[in-house]
Amino acid sequence: MKNLARRTLLQVAVLAATALSASVALAQTPIVIKFSHVVAPDTPKGKGAQRFKELAEQRTGGRVKVELYPNSQLYKDKEEMEALQLGSVQMLAPSLAKFGPLGVKEFEVFDLPFLFKDDAAFRGITDGALGADLFKKLEPKGIKGLAYWDNGFHQMSANKPLHAVADFKGMKMRIQSSKVLDAEMRALGAIPQVMAFSELYQALQSGVVDGTEGVASNFYTQKVYEVQKHMTISNHGHLAYAVIVNKKFWDGLPADLRTVLESCIKEATTYANAIASTENMQAMDKIKASGKTTVYTLTAAESAEWKKALMPVHQEMESRVGKATIAAAYKAAGFVPAK
Ligand code: LMR
Repeated sequence: MKNLARRTLLQVAVLAATALSASVALAQTPIVIKFSHVVAPDTPKGKGAQRFKELAEQRTGGRVKVELYPNSQLYKDKEEMEALQLGSVQMLAPSLAKFGPLGVKEFEVFDLPFLFKDDAAFRGITDGALGADLFKKLEPKGIKGLAYWDNGFHQMSANKPLHAVADFKGMKMRIQSSKVLDAEMRALGAIPQVMAFSELYQALQSGVVDGTEGVASNFYTQKVYEVQKHMTISNHGHLAYAVIVNKKFWDGLPADLRTVLESCIKEATTYANAIASTENMQAMDKIKASGKTTVYTLTAAESAEWKKALMPVHQEMESRVGKATIAAAYKAAGFVPAK
């Protein structure tokens, strides 16, 4: 009897030791989230990603490690989407203009020209039912949408001044992969060219394209202003991101960790959205101070001319983006089309 008790005790001790070493091993091998993106670390998206990393690592007590891969270090635009689906990376924050090739064309509603009068109008969509519906459409693709990050309004950059619509005639303009952006450039009389963000600088420098639309924080960090002589403040479009994860990976996380990570994303989102406008203004000031690019703001009359040329794109894109999606976007953004 005594022997039996001793043996049981021994077994319990062995079991406990095994469990302990297993939990030590678990604690030593953190879950790794590879977060890939295409812009510089010193941008609203780059800083938002950094904030998420810090929060996640701190709040999970090291159980999660977030590895950031900025500047298309791992993958370019299209490849990173595929890598996410395959699980080679776990997290991305692509521009909303890059979901068309995935087959979720409704995201291109965000690219409709002059849809948003301000950042609040944009949030009307992302914080509401349409924003949630769009994320649901990603799930059959093995992707889960976690948050929207704003990055302000699109401007134009070119190797010549762009004031009137006629100035666009024949200009080769780099765009993201959205068909709405393609229609936008054509409506202006330009020739759109889809190109990965990582190839932009080289293409502008070598003259493969004559210009591009984009935001000041990207123009500054990619040194676009060093190889382009003119910039037009037009606010004709809007740039924002979806923070997305591989669904299988996310759903497979221990529930307690997932809850912590969700709160980290929420906080990083508030931060990224709060800094975007200031970051873009500061980048614009630095571009101006460089003296390398002439920055021009459209007059009210010029802006009205651009609008007139661009508004037909809304109707033209109904068959692609969906009439109901466009109507829902108008409502959420408080946009009233001119009769
Ligand atoms: C672009 O490709 O122009 C942008 O989407 C890059 C980015 O992610 O800000």
